Amino acid sequence: MTGAPIGSVTVTMDGTDKSASLPLLAGTIGPSVFDIRKLYTDLDLFTYDPGYGGTAACESRITYIDGDEGVLLHRGYPIDQLAEQSTFLEVAHLLLNGELPDKEELAEFERGVMLHTMVHEQLRQFYNGFRRDAHPMAVICGVVGALSAFYHDSLDVTNADHRRISAFRLIAKLPTIAAWAYKYSIGQPFMYPRNDLGYAENFLYMMNAVPAEPYHVNPVLARAMDRILILHADHEQNASTSTVRLAGSTGANPFACIAAGIASLWGPAHGGANEAVLKMLAEIGHKDHIPDFIARVKDKNSGVRLMGFGHRVYKNYDPRAKIMERTCHEVLDELGIKDDPLLELALELERIALHDDYFISKKLYPNVDFYSGIILKAMGIPTSMFTVLFAVARTVGWISQWKEMMEDPLQRIGRPRQVYTGHAQRDFVVLQAR
Ligand code: CMC
Repeated sequence: MTGAPIGSVTVTMDGTDKSASLPLLAGTIGPSVFDIRKLYTDLDLFTYDPGYGGTAACESRITYIDGDEGVLLHRGYPIDQLAEQSTFLEVAHLLLNGELPDKEELAEFERGVMLHTMVHEQLRQFYNGFRRDAHPMAVICGVVGALSAFYHDSLDVTNADHRRISAFRLIAKLPTIAAWAYKYSIGQPFMYPRNDLGYAENFLYMMNAVPAEPYHVNPVLARAMDRILILHADHEQNASTSTVRLAGSTGANPFACIAAGIASLWGPAHGGANEAVLKMLAEIGHKDHIPDFIARVKDKNSGVRLMGFGHRVYKNYDPRAKIMERTCHEVLDELGIKDDPLLELALELERIALHDDYFISKKLYPNVDFYSGIILKAMGIPTSMFTVLFAVARTVGWISQWKEMMEDPLQRIGRPRQVYTGHAQRDFVVLQAR
């Protein structure tokens, strides 16, 4: 894979006769890039871009985001159409294989995933090693990493069949591993997966059912969960996906790479934000306290941020946030929750922020996490599981991006450089002389 060459950019070093001609490459849509690889060989220069805000680290055909217009496409399909009209496993097929499946392909794909929902029985023992109050992200990070110690028959990353089976295993086992992390934290027996249920339905079943009672999964909640999973499935080269790619670029096995992605997702600036939104709403407590809270957010020294607002790429409404808001109303209606104080508080906070110069001038809009926490809380999912759910969904994106990278003949180990600002070389001083 390489973008289409459309010209070149000449870089000249001021005050010298040195210059380099850098190829300009076009993507299908979105900004073109110039290929800087010759900068170092021809001019002995690196580029400097902390946070990678202006750097394309790879070429990809999976997801496209136009942050100014609030557009998110997976393999060309707009996220709202996918969320409204498809299922999570259809989207998983699309992300992994490049196209929407037809009926037969979908049935085969679903069967392929569902055949792998159980985990090796010995893996259960891992849970006992964790404290009961361990954060479920800590648990799933450890257990997913441990998968590589159990599935030796799919670890050869150069083998396409192994890659396919590992992808199925990860997509299938994450809900089981996540639900068991929850069951462990509340001291309930682990529920084995039921392959006669849909993906989201089975996940809700494993989270909520107990062996002593029959359990019926509410179809409206299953559909809402499926939609939440779709909305979190992939998001281009975000921090956790880049982590997965970087880990994978060394040839590490996919289970280890996804464990790395889970670790990266955990932070409050990334996947931990939906948990942080609920904490923030609880801290604000009442609509009357919003102005004080907004004043603290605007005060640079306070270190307080409006969680669920702002995005590195979106400088417009996050298209996923709109669908989340609709889903939020559907779930609350289904559960008969009227006048939910958290939702009222969130809506008022959003209204005030969207009319405030601070947020307008910095182009800060609600992101996907602003509403997801309210939905999940209404569904009875504990706050500590929010980021875990994100990880279940994003596993599909991570493994699709990993697969794409592994299939790219230009793939090399990821190895960024730096501008060194430490000491120049100096001689060692023996201890007595220091
Ligand atoms: N509340 C208040 N001010 C903010 C916020 C916010 N949520 N987000 C950004 N700003 C300000 C920031 O102070 C800075 O101001 P100034 O230019 O005066 O220094 C400016 O906006 C740009 O911020 P930045 O930190 O340089 O932007 P970034 O692209 O590095 O950060 C972000 C993106 C998502 C980390 C950030 O917007 C944030 O911390 N948001 C809250 C956490 C959150 O909701 N994260 C979920 C993101 S969506 C899901 C995911 O990707 O995992």
